[in-house]
Amino acid sequence: MHKLKKVKLEKALTFLEPGPLLLVTTFDGQKNNVMTISWSMPLDFAGRFALCTGPWNYSFGALRKTKECVLCVPGPQLLKTAVQIGMVSGEDTDKFKKFHLTARPASRVRAPLLEDCVACVECTVEKFLPSYGIFVLQAVEVWQNSSCADPRLVHAVGDGTFCADGEKFNFRRLMKEKLPPGL
Ligand SMILES: Cc1cc2nc3c(=O)[nH]c(=O)nc-3n(C[C@H](O)[C@H](O)[C@H](O)COP(=O)(O)O)c2cc1C
Repeated sequence: MHKLKKVKLEKALTFLEPGPLLLVTTFDGQKNNVMTISWSMPLDFAGRFALCTGPWNYSFGALRKTKECVLCVPGPQLLKTAVQIGMVSGEDTDKFKKFHLTARPASRVRAPLLEDCVACVECTVEKFLPSYGIFVLQAVEVWQNSSCADPRLVHAVGDGTFCADGEKFNFRRLMKEKLPPGL
């Protein structure tokens, strides 16, 4: 007997779910679209990220075709909208109109920035790994909204619940040799 108890396999996600929750905008040549993504991860210190999605989403086609997107980071005030955005498809819904989103032109890609987000990262698609639905992205421009009233990042637990960043711990001195230059 010890403190660890086996739980069902599905629970793994709720412990490992990464963050923060993202709103991923695309422009397919005709219209802007946005989807919600909780499966993303950084790959290096040089602005490379991965996200996971598939052909059942409308955004997938735009990502494959244009090889561009913007990763927008919503704060808690946009969380409910972010969930709603992830429940409808750009195939039949203009989500910018439906959810009153403010799109602003990005500088390096045609997909739009979302003004009410904490930050927006313009990205190009470097690679697509079809067997896993993984897009490898390269950040080309980063925007931060310093006037956001609540700039906490939100994280999906994976079971329909979410949390916002809370207490901060500063281990910068201990990690000095591992921190990327400039941060
Ligand atoms: C909280 C949340 C997280 C989501 N995370 C992902 C994800 O990581 N990958 C994915 O393919 N779909 C994810 N989805 C589902 C898509 O956002 C959803 O299918 C969306 O309607 C796709 O929009 P589109 O068809 O306009 O591209 C998520 C939905 C929600 C509500």
